[in-house]
Amino acid sequence: MKSTISDLHLGRILNPTPDGDFQEFSKGALALSSDGKILECGPADVLKAQSEGAQIHDHGDALVVPGFIDTHVHLAQVFARGHVAGDLLKWLENAIYPAEENFADLGHAEAATQAFIRDRIRNGITTSAVFLSSHPEAAQRCFEGLAASGLRSVAGLVNMEHGAPASLCLERHETMRATEELAGRWHQHDKGRIRYAITPRFALTCSKELLNDLGKMRSEDPSLFVHTHISENTQECAEVASAFPEASHYLAVYGDAGLIGKRCILAHGIHMTDQELDILSSTRTGVAHCPTSNLFLKSGAFPWSRYVEHNVAFGLGSDVGAGPSMNPFNVMRDAYMVQPQDFLSPKELLWRATLGGAQALGMEPEIGSFDAGKEGDFVIIDPQAHPVISENHGSSQSAESLLSSLVFLGDDRCISGTYVRGQKLG
Ligand code: GUN
Ligand code: ZN
Repeated sequence: MKSTISDLHLGRILNPTPDGDFQEFSKGALALSSDGKILECGPADVLKAQSEGAQIHDHGDALVVPGFIDTHVHLAQVFARGHVAGDLLKWLENAIYPAEENFADLGHAEAATQAFIRDRIRNGITTSAVFLSSHPEAAQRCFEGLAASGLRSVAGLVNMEHGAPASLCLERHETMRATEELAGRWHQHDKGRIRYAITPRFALTCSKELLNDLGKMRSEDPSLFVHTHISENTQECAEVASAFPEASHYLAVYGDAGLIGKRCILAHGIHMTDQELDILSSTRTGVAHCPTSNLFLKSGAFPWSRYVEHNVAFGLGSDVGAGPSMNPFNVMRDAYMVQPQDFLSPKELLWRATLGGAQALGMEPEIGSFDAGKEGDFVIIDPQAHPVISENHGSSQSAESLLSSLVFLGDDRCISGTYVRGQKLG
């Protein structure tokens, strides 16, 4: 028997499809059940006829799109955006580690969590893969805030043993104990709206023994996520090669520990060999492409077309605080800008920010498109709320041309509603 439609959202529906394109209903509707699941999307007149008694939400000519998925962000850097301090390793030492040290103060951690939540909702980001900080008590407060916010989050305590100020590092057994405790408390919280990600910061802050312990934890519960950084900066890559001489390449540092595979998301992956791309593809390991960050730290240009050729799952990440902006349109714009030759289409960019991100996180059975049975996570985008876009366009423009304006001009003024499980947040 078909479930009853509880809520019907009317607007211009853009539904990403697995082939990298979109199904479009210009006068469309999104039908939700009372538990916030997607029942169907389709033409408004057809669905309206089936929606007796349902609550109708008419968004006019606004776009109705799956919620944006930020595949890589640092909550502990929310107050450290736009702090120029050179390339990756210099910036970590001089700007970021001092900022993360503030998380020893739980009041600061709580304030940062609230600022993070506010900016997520304002920007239409319904799912985030989040690095917290390396402080267990602060991580607990961050999880409490994320759980209360209604946002979907994959988050974890940052594991660091060395290579950073002592105040940010924990001894291996301590960081393992805190990781197990936090994962036990928060993984699958609220029917899976919150998931735990095992989060070794990167190879340079972890011993082989710690990576092995984390890999063992993952093998005992494969539903746990893994979230780390890889091949962002050439100096980082050289230092990893000398710290892990037995690893055949950077990816093997994580692979040898049992950390890669589905539900593992690796941030950056700029300087990857073809062999590494093949392994990412065959293991279904996901990658977070973070173009605003790559431009800010001058890390290099993500090899987009090679990733597509190798059929690697990748999405977009803000990488706040190296990426100064929470806004997904800014991230899409910079993904376009950072490619030296390719002209990525606005649709392709939106696809990477939605279904592509879901695939990179291994969460495409639940989120990323409007297929029946998925979670009712979506965003209402009103391009006319932007003064320049509204001057450029009448409401009759094609979705492709509106998307192009949104990618290059859009900001949070265009986000008029952020919904998770059918509930409007904020
Ligand atoms: N590599 C290790 N830590 C970090 C971080 O905080 N930000 C970025 N962009 N790269 C990293
Ligand atoms: Zn990062």
